[in-house]
Amino acid sequence: MNDQTDSAPLVQFPGGRPKLRDTLDRPLRDLRISVMDRCNFRCPYCMPEDKYHKDFEFLSSDQRLSFDEIARVAKIFAGLGVHKLRITGGEPLLRANLPDLIAELRAIREIDDIALTTNGILLAQHAAALKAAGLDRVTVSLDSLDADVFRQMSGGRGTVDKVLEGIREADSAGLTPIKVNTVVKRGVNDHTVADMVEHFRGSNVIVRFIEYMDVGTINHWQPAETVPARELLQLIGERWALQPAASNYHGEVASRYVFADGQGEIGFINSVTEPFCGSCTRARLSSDGKLFTCLFAATGMDLRGPLRDEFSDAQLAEVIGTVWQQRGDRYSELRARNSAPADKVEMYYIGG
Ligand code: GTP
Ligand code: 5AD
Ligand code: SF4
Ligand code: SF4
Repeated sequence: MNDQTDSAPLVQFPGGRPKLRDTLDRPLRDLRISVMDRCNFRCPYCMPEDKYHKDFEFLSSDQRLSFDEIARVAKIFAGLGVHKLRITGGEPLLRANLPDLIAELRAIREIDDIALTTNGILLAQHAAALKAAGLDRVTVSLDSLDADVFRQMSGGRGTVDKVLEGIREADSAGLTPIKVNTVVKRGVNDHTVADMVEHFRGSNVIVRFIEYMDVGTINHWQPAETVPARELLQLIGERWALQPAASNYHGEVASRYVFADGQGEIGFINSVTEPFCGSCTRARLSSDGKLFTCLFAATGMDLRGPLRDEFSDAQLAEVIGTVWQQRGDRYSELRARNSAPADKVEMYYIGG
């Protein structure tokens, strides 16, 4: 599937291996690319309807990076050590002709994993074309199987059945392993967590429960709304015997557990109670071409200007490399000290 084209690394590293490290000695390994700031959901914790209403001004098409611009940036990142890409949004499947971008990214030799995060509503209709273009796998956000709770968490948009249909089609298309991301918010969907486990147990789908975080400022996060993963682990463990499993790779954000009876695995993303900044190798690119080095950053480095001002690949690599070398982000580790920037970027814009 990987077309292996001509992308020789743009920056040559002694010994052939990228040596780019940030101030905390973390390499640059992953790039998360937001291709669309719009979304067809209005999850109250991300895009509450009262703010993101019909007159809200999202980016215009010419403000968003074109596919060629994204592919060029991705190729430069690959030359700096990135080997893993994740396409995000808002909702990435709202971006027209997305398989064309996937095909361009697939042609980058150093990239060995391309995943996509979606709310699943448009997945059934696009799964086969995405796979054919070279997408490896999908992660689907699904907060509850209960119709009322789902509606509450999606802002009244979409249906559980449609998301499940998307997951089935993705499975048929081979976009595996499929992961389901469930954000758990106390008092809202925590009582439906066991149903989620029951439903997907024994399928190929890996459910991961995410601690609700203080991303952005719009959700007015309160610590009490986060359900610590250890609480869920205990609850689930009382019903199904679980065994901890080793990480698939260094820096994997989810803690893995397998069912003792061989019926698959689940995961917990403990970003609040057990931060994983120490192994964070992720850079994020917004759909208008800003480079963010932390999910909780207030500002990003503009790459669109230099791209459109005809910077050479080497010059762009220099800009990106310098940003990474100056990076010292570890927001989740510092959260308890309450050192949040006042104006954190929003999740729908940066892509999670
Ligand atoms: P794979 O292991 O490659 O499947 O992906 P992943 O688990 O890294 O990616 P995914 O996008 O599914 O991450 C799941 C969720 O974990 C995100 O939606 C965020 O809520 C959280 N997360 C991912 N990366 C970070 C990070 O760098 N910092 C924090 N605080 N949370 C993160
Ligand atoms: N805390 C944790 N996860 C969140 N997501 C969105 N907002 C938050 C938050 N405040 C999740 C979405 C999706 C992924 C992109 O990020 O539910 O699974
Ligand atoms: Fe919900 Fe994700 Fe859309 Fe935000 S981007 S509104 S979390 S579906
Ligand atoms: Fe990485 Fe920032 Fe998340 Fe820490 S808080 S894991 S540095 S993105």
